[in-house]
Amino acid sequence: MNEDKLIQMNMGGLQGKEHKGSDKPVLCLGIESSCDETSAAIVDSDRNILSHIIYSQIPEHQKYGGVVPELAARAHILAIDEVINKTLAAAEKKLEDLDVIAATAGPGLIGGVLIGWMAATGIAQSTGKPLVAVNHLEGHALVPRLHATAASGADGKIDVNFPYLLMLASGGHCQILLVRGVGQYEMIGQTLDDSAGEAFDKVAKMLGLGYPGGPVVDKCASQGNPKAFKFPRPLCDKPGCDFSFSGIKTAARTFLSRIEAPYSEQFINDFCASFQAAVVDCIIDRLNNAFKDVRVINAAPQTLVVAGGVAKNSAIRTAMEQLAAQKNVLFAAPPMNLCTDNGAMIAWAGIENYKLGKVVKEPVAPRPRWPLTEL
Ligand code: KG4
Ligand code: ZN
Repeated sequence: MNEDKLIQMNMGGLQGKEHKGSDKPVLCLGIESSCDETSAAIVDSDRNILSHIIYSQIPEHQKYGGVVPELAARAHILAIDEVINKTLAAAEKKLEDLDVIAATAGPGLIGGVLIGWMAATGIAQSTGKPLVAVNHLEGHALVPRLHATAASGADGKIDVNFPYLLMLASGGHCQILLVRGVGQYEMIGQTLDDSAGEAFDKVAKMLGLGYPGGPVVDKCASQGNPKAFKFPRPLCDKPGCDFSFSGIKTAARTFLSRIEAPYSEQFINDFCASFQAAVVDCIIDRLNNAFKDVRVINAAPQTLVVAGGVAKNSAIRTAMEQLAAQKNVLFAAPPMNLCTDNGAMIAWAGIENYKLGKVVKEPVAPRPRWPLTEL
C-alpha cells in the first residue's frame, strides 16, 4: 500500500469537521518525531508547559557519527506510546481533557515524521479532537513566544511580539526570517549549501569529538584561542543575507589533513574556537545586512530572536545580544531545552494555529520537505 493511501484511510474520520478559531483557554498535546528525539508535551495557551518528555536517541546514533534514518524510525516506534502516556501522566491529564492534538507533519526524516503523525491522527480520530499539522520549522520559529528571555541566561519570561527578525539555525536549516505572524514568514536569507549545525557536526567529526558536534565544539571553544587558525568568512562583507558554510568546512579539512592525529587538547580547543568565531562572524555579518533590507526596515521588528538547535551556542547568543543592543532592539532566546527538537514547540505552534482555525480538514500527507514560505 502506498503512503498516500495509508494516510487517507486513517484520516477518513477527520474529513469534513469544522473547527473555528477561538479565544478560550486551550490545552494542547504536541508530538515531535522528525529526527532523533521522540518528544511530547502538554502546553496551555497561557504559556505554561504542564509536562514535557524528550526521549533522545542520540546514544543509539552516536556510534555511526550521525542520525541513521532507519534506526531513528524504529526507535520512534518503540518509544512513542510510552512518551505520550508519560506526558499525560506527568500533567495529570487524560485525553478527554485536551482541546487539540498537534504533531510535526514535516519537514524531516519521513519515517519518523509518519510515526508521530499517525499517533496524533489516531488520538484525534478516537477522541474526536481537532488536529493540527505542524511544520517543524514553525515550531522552532514560534517557540520564543511560549518562552524566551531577554538576555542569555536571564530568568524572566518576556513577550515576543510580531513582527520579529529570526535567526533560525538547526541541524538541517539556516535561515534569516522576518516573522510577521503565524504562518507569515518572509525569507530574508538562507544557506546556499550546509546549515550551521551541519558545519558544527562535520568539524566535530573530523576532530573525532563525536555526535552531535555543536555542544562539544561550543565547550572546547570556550577554552581555546579564536585567533589561532585563520578560517575563511564566506560571503562576509558582500551584499545580501545568504550564508555559505561549506568553505569553512573545507578549510577545516585542509588544515587537519596537514596535521597528524591524535590532536592535543589545546589544539582541539584552539581549532574549535577559531572555527566557531568564523561561524559567529558570518551570522553577525548577514544579520547586519538583514537590518538594512528594505522589507525589514519597513516592518521595523522590535526583537531579534534566535531559535533552533544551534541557538544553544553561547558565542552566537552573546554576539547576537550585542548586535541587538547596537540596533536598539530586544534580544530573545528560548531556554536551552526549547532550542533543540522538542514536543513543547510543536504543542505551542499547534495552539497558535488552532486559535486561527488552522486545523486539519482534509487528508494531510507528511512531507520530508516543507519550506516555511509554503505555509
Ligand atoms: O534543531 P535541532 O535539534 O534539530 C534539527 O531540526 O536539525 O538542531 C540540532 C543541531 C545539531 O547540528 C547540533 O550540533 C546543533 O543543533 N547544536 C549546537 C549546539 N547544541 C546543539 N550547535 C552549536 N552549539 C551548540 N551548543
Ligand atoms: Zn529542529
